Amino acid sequence: MTDTSPPQSTKTWSARFSEPVSDLVKRFTASVLFDQRMAHQDIRGSLAHARMLTAQGIIEARDLAEIEAGMARITDEIEQGKFVWDLDAEDVHLNIEKRLTALVGDAGKRLHTGRSRNDQVATDIRLWLRDAIDQILTLITAFQRNLLDIAELHADTPLPGFTHLQVAQPVTFGHHLMAYFEMTRRDAERYADVRRRVNRLPLGSAALAGTSHPIDREMVARELGFEEVCANSLDAVSDRGFAIEFCAASSLLMMHLSRLSEELILWMSPRMGFIDLADRFCTGSSIMPQKKNPDVPELVRGKTGRVNGSLVSLLTLMKGQPLAYNKDNQEDKEPLFDTADTVIDTLRIYADMITGIKVKPEAMLAALSQGYATATDLADYMVKKGLPFRDAHEVVAMAVRAAERSGRDLPDFSLEELRAFSGLIDEDVYQVLTVEGSLASRNHAGGTAPDQVRAAIARARARLS
Ligand code: ARG
Repeated sequence: MTDTSPPQSTKTWSARFSEPVSDLVKRFTASVLFDQRMAHQDIRGSLAHARMLTAQGIIEARDLAEIEAGMARITDEIEQGKFVWDLDAEDVHLNIEKRLTALVGDAGKRLHTGRSRNDQVATDIRLWLRDAIDQILTLITAFQRNLLDIAELHADTPLPGFTHLQVAQPVTFGHHLMAYFEMTRRDAERYADVRRRVNRLPLGSAALAGTSHPIDREMVARELGFEEVCANSLDAVSDRGFAIEFCAASSLLMMHLSRLSEELILWMSPRMGFIDLADRFCTGSSIMPQKKNPDVPELVRGKTGRVNGSLVSLLTLMKGQPLAYNKDNQEDKEPLFDTADTVIDTLRIYADMITGIKVKPEAMLAALSQGYATATDLADYMVKKGLPFRDAHEVVAMAVRAAERSGRDLPDFSLEELRAFSGLIDEDVYQVLTVEGSLASRNHAGGTAPDQVRAAIARARARLS
């Protein structure tokens, strides 16, 4: 029999080319060093494609059996670290296809029928990102559970609430922590929403225009767990909006954790001394023996910058690209992977760190007694006795000035002294001038009264279960 196969070349597309690329260009264009982490997704996608080609009579059952056997072997080789990744084969897709063909011959060469690396890579990224989102959602829940536990322990613990970093009004530490529950709850909602748009199938779009082979995209979508197929082939191969949305959701999550980090750092500074962090999240100084530095929260704050950077990278990557696929798109992976890695590590470490917070209620209370934290309560007290709020505000401002001059806090004044500011003030004023009275009076949905905080925690727990 005469051999009808074309002469073998070293590169997939070499027949068209008269000179090899330089080593520098090879290294510059290759993505295999970083996209090999999508190998399992690439194999899953290829198997679904091959099964569809077989069901549609485009390749034979014999080919499918060989492709499946070859892919099983390749999976083993990858898992055992024996797979040889080759820069000459450029990326994860060509590396696996080349190995498959070496293992099973023509069946391997038939796999790429009706497909392009353009729809293949878009499918792989979506499969990879879907798994990353699921992992992140699980980790957010783990973080939230631990946050709820400590919030519950401190539903009554008074903390100075700050505005402009100055003592403003008393809140409870539990209420303060629950603010972060709300932030991360919105983060989880955003990831779940992004997931819906990630979970659409590009495969079947081929290079950009679809294929003349009688493919069944719905079958592939079902096999891979995609909710729907991307509706336009040009859009499907070139869209990276889903990756940008993921990075945007991640920037927001990191921004929230960065704010919490900033608070942990401030609270832990000897000036405030509201909390201590477990030693395993801190380091010492190589020169100053007295130091215990909050390295982990500082790094979370710092890593937020690189996640924001990735978001800007991807937005910039996409803004100048005409339809459809351009090689620029290969640059999507490193920022995307780095973002997912950073978010996953940060959440894992935070879930643990939050349980290692040692709260110092005495220091919180001491700070509260220095900041006239119940001044607004005094104003509200007089409003309830009929004084217009603006006038009450003025009376309290005078009382605070007098307190400042005499180095005391408002509850330290005698009734007689207080009555000098307003005849509306009676003995019952001390109920609102105390921190406990102030906290208990904010007893409405979203307020800091301990009963409200406990109710918020109960609602949060019900949502998580
Ligand atoms: N490694 C490429 C990427 O990550 C795969 C797609 C290549 N397609 C192409 N037409 N060169 O984007």
